[in-house]
Amino acid sequence: MSGDSRKNATVNTTDDGKGGALRVAVTGAAGNIGYALLWRIASGDCFGKNQPLILQLLEIPQGMQRLSGVIMELKDSAFPLIHDIVGTDDPNIAFKGADAIFLVGSRPRTKDMDRADLVAANGPIFVGQGKAIDAVASRDVRVITVGNPCNTNALIANANSPGIPSRQFTAMTRLDQNRAVGQIADYLGVPASKIDDVFIWGNHANTMYPDPRFAKVDGNMVTEVIDSDWLTSKFLDTVSTRGKAIIVARGASSAASAASAAIDHMHDWWQGSDGRIVSMALPSEGWYGVPEGLVFSFPCRCEGGEIEVVEGLPIDSFAQSKIDENVTELLKEREAVKELLENS
Ligand code: NAD
Ligand code: LMR
Repeated sequence: MSGDSRKNATVNTTDDGKGGALRVAVTGAAGNIGYALLWRIASGDCFGKNQPLILQLLEIPQGMQRLSGVIMELKDSAFPLIHDIVGTDDPNIAFKGADAIFLVGSRPRTKDMDRADLVAANGPIFVGQGKAIDAVASRDVRVITVGNPCNTNALIANANSPGIPSRQFTAMTRLDQNRAVGQIADYLGVPASKIDDVFIWGNHANTMYPDPRFAKVDGNMVTEVIDSDWLTSKFLDTVSTRGKAIIVARGASSAASAASAAIDHMHDWWQGSDGRIVSMALPSEGWYGVPEGLVFSFPCRCEGGEIEVVEGLPIDSFAQSKIDENVTELLKEREAVKELLENS
């Protein structure tokens, strides 16, 4: 396969000969996150080591040459699981029959911006892509939105895809969860694998609430072994502003860790979270008083390909104030994009 979209699309968009392969679409496939993400998908880290895959990669026209190089490298990696690769600048080809979609393609912020400042540039992308998903993707498709501001971009894609159940549209807060795990593990001097059940409420923005109240280290409550001052100040500040810290340090936004978190999110959705609580932003069904439809990060468990929000956790006054702050911010973002939600 080359990066010649139309030629490849003709060859690859029939369902004939799918042969048990999953169709996995990735947008922004020639970008920084794409470059890390595709190799992890192709090696079986996400959908399983025995699951054949067809990669359907979307770029904008200016990105197609770069994408053709990425496709050459994928082919040169000779992954046994890859049955076919499509490179295209047409979302109706990239999403055709897609079983899983990673919505990455969009602009990253620079160090002087907040993620919400990207909505004017990136929001409209998710109108056209939402409509294309509605038109051509599998009715069972599972969508993760990574492009920022990811909660509101997922809201836009969901609104423009009325034929697909809302629960199949998610946004990524797993990177924030992984950052929270990393901070606690570092503080305690233990490997990250010892930490469970720390999760994120709300928006992938500085307002997010990384909730340590139920977190465990080796089965013991983190709140019993870590000073509460650290958890409510340094920990919260570090996790919620980590994206900018990386932009300042690296001169570019997080890419490998973002790709890794996208793999974790889709892996757990697809293969189950083994009883662990994980963070996923999805359209609220009124959970914890969050207004319906807002794409909000909740504590979730995954089993059998379904996401279950963990309900009934106690909410203290600090947690409630953080949830409220995130609701207010996401309502504001929703208001700012209301014309993109009309599905006309
Ligand atoms: P990048 O600039 O390296 O790559 C983005 C790619 O998307 C480019 O190749 C570009 O050509 C392509 N693109 C742009 N518009 C497109 C469209 N309409 N359709 C298809 N492709 C399109 O950026 P990156 O570092 O890969 O980051 C991508 C996005 O992910 C940014 O919005 C960034 O802020 C976001 N991000 C989110 C998280 C998170 O935790 N949710 C983490 C890191 C980055
Ligand atoms: C991140 O959290 O690293 C990404 O959302 C990139 C950013 O703009 O912070």
